[in-house]
Amino acid sequence: MDFDIADASLAPLGRQRIDWAESHMGVLRAIRERFERSRPLEGLTVAACLHITTETANLLRTLKAGGADVVACASNPLSTQDDVAASLVEHDGIAVFAIRAEDSDTYWAHMDAVLDARPQITMDDGCDLVSRLHAMRPDQVGHVIAGTEETTTGVIRLRAMEADSALRYPIVAVNDANTKHMFDNRYGTGQSTLDGIIRATNVLLAGKRVVVAGYGYCGKGVASRARGMGAQVIVTEVEPLAALEAVMDGFRVEPMEEAAGEGDIFVTVTGNRDVLRAEHFALMRDGAILANSGHFDIEIDLKALAESTGSERRREVRPLVEEYLYPAPEGDRRILVVAEGRLVNLGAAEGHPAAVMDMSFANQALVAEWLMGDGKGINPGVHAVPPAIDSEVARLKLGTEGIRIDTLTDRQREYLASWSTGT
Ligand code: ADE
Repeated sequence: MDFDIADASLAPLGRQRIDWAESHMGVLRAIRERFERSRPLEGLTVAACLHITTETANLLRTLKAGGADVVACASNPLSTQDDVAASLVEHDGIAVFAIRAEDSDTYWAHMDAVLDARPQITMDDGCDLVSRLHAMRPDQVGHVIAGTEETTTGVIRLRAMEADSALRYPIVAVNDANTKHMFDNRYGTGQSTLDGIIRATNVLLAGKRVVVAGYGYCGKGVASRARGMGAQVIVTEVEPLAALEAVMDGFRVEPMEEAAGEGDIFVTVTGNRDVLRAEHFALMRDGAILANSGHFDIEIDLKALAESTGSERRREVRPLVEEYLYPAPEGDRRILVVAEGRLVNLGAAEGHPAAVMDMSFANQALVAEWLMGDGKGINPGVHAVPPAIDSEVARLKLGTEGIRIDTLTDRQREYLASWSTGT
């Protein structure tokens, strides 16, 4: 088996940590046990371009238990957990091509290695695998039956491909399942983003002014968790509806040109580029901390920051924290960038906790099964997760947590189905 990982001797540690994650992923474990019997993916090659974490390892093992040959690469150069990559290769026979902090050439070479396996299913996180396949290997696209996409940014890119009539096979937007974005994006990103900032900087959040750029599900999570730790949270937005929601959730909403001079900590979670840029750096206070939790490292314009400060006026002050000295009339101002502006929750922490990834990855596994069963033959394009899978994941999750809920009485069911009862 071909693979490329940092250090095979890390496998025992990886195994231990994967098992720990599994102990919080009851839904995925139940699916794996069922897959071992029913083998819904028998004989298929699945290419996964995901963050190589303990949680992902449990998804990949589930796909393998379902009969798939699994090959995997990283969906971000900084998110790979090398011990996990080693364990997947050594203990599970899964071909992994991923090394933490790999350079850009290696990142793409690893993706090409995964595509060389000629997958029939793609499982992407951010759409790099799918867009590279379509752009660089048009002759191979016809070999793919279907795919899935894990994240908001990837779904946006897929819809752009679809609008351009460029997308040539069906892909299910796992991100858009309720049991994915309502939990993973909100509670997962909320907790893991702060976890990354805290692990990297050890900063006290209580009393700090935290500026959250973007009030989608991820931004909502970050804002609410930062408030929960005693920060004063300012939200910036471009969408009136989201801005209004932030206002009524009790946050101060302002344009970044105002917030830039007020914040102690800035977190970008918009999915768009240049959210923090030259005109904002010029206004920032000494010691401002900048972190990004959007999928790509484009939200903080680091090139502009380096140009304003001069490249020799920057240094690493702690692991994963770079200090830029911004020249100002009263003396230099320090601007601190966490995890190179890459997604901070996976670069500086371990990503979302297993208990929430359990639902996201249960959707992935069940959708893969559906694509080979009832979903076989759906048209090229972006598809929703079947509602039955979404509610099954919620039902299973409640079950694994030992939480029971009420059921409708016959009279209640009748009432809901009738239109004749009024005042
Ligand atoms: N995305 C966010 N957190 C993650 C995790 N723990 N594993 C895989 N993908 C993730």
